[in-house]
Amino acid sequence: MLKIENLVVRYGMIEAIKGISFHVDDGEIVTLIGSNGAGKTTTMHAISGLLKPAGGSITLDGKDLIKTPSHKIVTDGLAQVPEGRRVFAEQSVKENLLLGAYFRKDKQEIEKDLAYVYDLFPRLKEREKQLAGTLSGGEQQMLAMGRALMSRPKILLLDEPSMGLSPLLVKEIFRIIQDINKRGTTILLVEQNAKMALGIADRAYVLETGKIVLEGTGEELAASERVRKAYLGG
Ligand SMILES: Nc1ncnc2c1ncn2[C@@H]1O[C@H](COP(=O)(O)OP(=O)(O)O)[C@@H](O)[C@H]1O
Ligand SMILES: [Mg+2]
Repeated sequence: MLKIENLVVRYGMIEAIKGISFHVDDGEIVTLIGSNGAGKTTTMHAISGLLKPAGGSITLDGKDLIKTPSHKIVTDGLAQVPEGRRVFAEQSVKENLLLGAYFRKDKQEIEKDLAYVYDLFPRLKEREKQLAGTLSGGEQQMLAMGRALMSRPKILLLDEPSMGLSPLLVKEIFRIIQDINKRGTTILLVEQNAKMALGIADRAYVLETGKIVLEGTGEELAASERVRKAYLGG
């Protein structure tokens, strides 16, 4: 479904992504793990069209995403939940969710998806009229995920959903990610929390300073000496 080949991304003279290749197949949960500064967010932004790569190719079901404007990428079925959530603080929960459906043409289907999101996240339903800025960190993460789902994506990109959340909430968020996947959405997850990410991933890649250094199934990587030493605390 999503295929990245020899991707290079530069910030001025700095090469943040140094020719990486990976893919996500239909129905999978794939994770890209790496420490702070490895290039995870840069990769996400290149895929969602927020950054223009210096080289390589990105295709979604064969369609070249590098040549596609970012709002068109959303209508083509790819949605991103950005690092740090970025909800619209002065808008209500429901208004935030409806903004996620902004580019849709099938307006009569939107109510159905709103019900789907409320079913996944009952807490959002309870807080429908509350201003997003007054939600807790975990609730804002749920809202950002719900908003992305309102574009009815084929593939959902999640940038460090566990960041800043308590272990209990991280568990809940990861359970919901699995649920979203079971209900038919393909997932690309980037995480510093290797333990949680490898626990739910079908396949995984390790990103270190802009290069992919390891790949395998979630299980293989969780058992790998190198991953255990560098990312799982021994
Ligand atoms: N806007 C920017 N300008 C210059 N360098 C950047 C910018 N954003 C990120 N970088 C650099 O690119 C590298 C990768 O960053 P990033 O993709 O944010 O990593 P991660 O998300 O894995 O923590 C880092 O060395 C970072 O300092
Ligand atoms: Mg990041």
